Amino acid sequence: MSGAISVALCAGLATGPVTAQPNPQAVADPSQWPSQPAPIEVDETVEQRIDALIAAMSLEQKVGQIIQADIGSVTPADVSRFHLGSILNGGNSTPTGEYNAPAERWLKAADDFYAASMKRDGDLPRIPVIWGSDAVHGHNNIVGATLFPHNIGLGSARDPELMRRIGEITAIEMRVTGLDWTFAPTLAVVRDDRWGRTYEGFGETPEIATSYAAPIIEGLQGKIGDEDWLRGPHIVATAKHFLGDGGTAGGKDQGDARIDEEGLRDLFSPPYLPAIEAGVQSIMVSFSSWNGAKMHGNESLLTGVVKNRWNFDGFLVGDWNGHGQIAGCSATDCPQSVNAGLDMFMAPDSWKGLYQSTLANARNGTLSMDRLDDAVRRILRVKLRAGLFEAGKPSSRPYAGEFERLGSAEHRAVAREAVRKSLVLLKNANGVLPLDSGANVLVAGDGADNFTKQTGGWTLTWQGTGTKRSDFPNAQTIWGGIEEAVQQAGGTATLSPDGSFSSKPDVAIVVFGEDPYAEFQGDRPDVGYDDAESLALLRSLQADGIPTVSVFLSGRAMWANPFINASDAFVAAWLPGSEGGGVADVLFGEAEFTGKLPYSWPKSSDQTALNVGDAIYDPLFPYGFGLTSDKPGDLAQLPEDRASAAPVDTNVLFAAGRAGEGRQLLIGAPGALATNPGPDLITMERTDHKAQEDSVRLRFSGAGKAVAAIVQDSPIDMLRQTNGDLALELVFKVNAAPTADVNLLMTCGDGCMGGFPFGTVLSRAAQGGQWTRLALPLSCFEQAGVDMGRVEAPLMLVTEGQLDLTLSSARIVSPSGGQLTCQ
Ligand code: BGC
Ligand code: BGC
Repeated sequence: MSGAISVALCAGLATGPVTAQPNPQAVADPSQWPSQPAPIEVDETVEQRIDALIAAMSLEQKVGQIIQADIGSVTPADVSRFHLGSILNGGNSTPTGEYNAPAERWLKAADDFYAASMKRDGDLPRIPVIWGSDAVHGHNNIVGATLFPHNIGLGSARDPELMRRIGEITAIEMRVTGLDWTFAPTLAVVRDDRWGRTYEGFGETPEIATSYAAPIIEGLQGKIGDEDWLRGPHIVATAKHFLGDGGTAGGKDQGDARIDEEGLRDLFSPPYLPAIEAGVQSIMVSFSSWNGAKMHGNESLLTGVVKNRWNFDGFLVGDWNGHGQIAGCSATDCPQSVNAGLDMFMAPDSWKGLYQSTLANARNGTLSMDRLDDAVRRILRVKLRAGLFEAGKPSSRPYAGEFERLGSAEHRAVAREAVRKSLVLLKNANGVLPLDSGANVLVAGDGADNFTKQTGGWTLTWQGTGTKRSDFPNAQTIWGGIEEAVQQAGGTATLSPDGSFSSKPDVAIVVFGEDPYAEFQGDRPDVGYDDAESLALLRSLQADGIPTVSVFLSGRAMWANPFINASDAFVAAWLPGSEGGGVADVLFGEAEFTGKLPYSWPKSSDQTALNVGDAIYDPLFPYGFGLTSDKPGDLAQLPEDRASAAPVDTNVLFAAGRAGEGRQLLIGAPGALATNPGPDLITMERTDHKAQEDSVRLRFSGAGKAVAAIVQDSPIDMLRQTNGDLALELVFKVNAAPTADVNLLMTCGDGCMGGFPFGTVLSRAAQGGQWTRLALPLSCFEQAGVDMGRVEAPLMLVTEGQLDLTLSSARIVSPSGGQLTCQ
């Protein structure tokens, strides 16, 4: 080991291996970090088996072993041919390509990939593949699985033992589908709630994550030394994302944590110590940077701190092509990262190129052979510890195929308990809570009967969008739970999303909040909550003299003063998951409110990096706040002025009859676009789809080349959206098919444009005459030559022929599964 490090430290000298050269402010001094002994004794039998394996492995096998590919881009045959050590399913990848692939298909896929990895190849040793999946709030990629509250809700519970049970259940449900490795828990300490992953963190201080790390990891993996450690009902866990993921400037996803070494250490690293002590077998490296240098290349932290100082003997896995972001690297070539200490590349779609370059780098010494062997050793160590070599095919392992365990009553009861403990009561004027279940209860709001909203991101799809009711067979909405509680007590409950009623209710419960998101799609410019509809609803109920209870669904603490004012009681319910019944339990007094804020609650929309311990700390509700139902919780009227301008949704290109903020819909001759250029070439006219004048009818006359385009006021950078697999979604109707070719384009400055012929699609759509919804991957535009870093017209239709089309909306979306192909 020490050999590998000294070699790496000499990098930069003439022939040494290539290492990343972080700037001096991003080089840690490991001696300043706490040291910790390895929690697991060296097992000589295991180490000898590794020695024997490594001695027998070909170089190709070693290289393959350190590469992880995504099941959306790799086949079992590839796994055997390239000796890949691991596969994953990204948030949008499933065995069938359908986001709601049945559990049986997952198990079948696990068998297929396993069999491929074990296929004979001369005398080479057989090494079982390991499959990683983001089971981050239960086994959330699987239809019917138990879905726990996201970590933000669990942080509110302040209940480490509960984490152990949640880990145990998640592990068993993963076993049912034949998977053996989860990319969880996230141990991020989140300092700026603009970050779209705020809900993935347990809180804003290291305190909660530090107290949760060991129990949740032991729940998932079992206890070191026990016979069923990493086996039987247990799986392999991952602590992520190392390090400082929640500390990036501005709460930017994949951003830069600008902080001194002491700050990095004391604020972000504490949860990793108990995680390693509890035996976590993998650690995922963060996409983010520390003082300008990407973590994926930071040798001082990856090798110096994690491996040498903390004596971590499992393996470091990268994040989704994260290695490609190191200066001098690309997704398909990056010896720097391995030299710095990464053991397994997460190379979802880049695995083949990466395999080839890594092989070449190993041959020419750019990648140190010691380092490669050490990386392989670590991966094999985990596989051996987990008994993978003896376990047989996934479907033959304990719990596999016992599909009735997914979302079983027993598992759901624990999730429901977690929901009860996660709710934080912020206001309770006149002791309106607990409610009387014998009352006449109106249940309103678009979140009341809505699985998509209550489960949030990382639920069947990456962003959690695009799912439907039937995807949640073992779940209950918040409305469902309320209805059950009220019916049992002989009261009346009525669901009315828009709040209308015929007989005046005794009380109204209004469920509303953020729509689902993940990663950078959830990044925001401030923490103000805007929702005119729900606010109007609350106010009208109040005006009718009906006491209102708000149940607020969100992935972060948000400025919501107007909503709080318009509510008698206000509950921060976060993202509760599959068990809406847990909300009713607490509202009707079956259980007490015990949840405490894991994030400080802002007093204004621009308090984005508000954290307990700040020199000036002025929250509306402090970290740790939470009322209990036995005491009244009145609140004086709060100021309602929004401190920052309401953010615009940059994903909306066109909706509700107009172009999104910062954009215009223009028509005319190429180079002479205007809002109303005269009727010769093309006209536009407002028309109705779902609401009055929510669409626009575009008529191309055929008299010459004509253009309709959404044009940016200033160019927009869509690189991140493109790399994140987002798509341009169009909703349109073709009233008369095109009479000549039509091109669908994006433009990017002088002479820069790209796109594809769109005439066939439009002609096909014309036949049905119905509304068509179509998602085109942004990457298709990139492949067609668009510079996605400076898009000027994100949507342009060009034709010389006639065409009559109505556009209802154009948006940037996360497609819900299904592999879309470029036209
Ligand atoms: C996320 C990780 C996740 C990985 C695999 C990445 O984009 O940052 O948290 O584990 O994808 O889905
Ligand atoms: C995948 C996620 C991944 C993300 C990275 C998505 O396509 O489904 O798992 O985290 O890309 O940007």
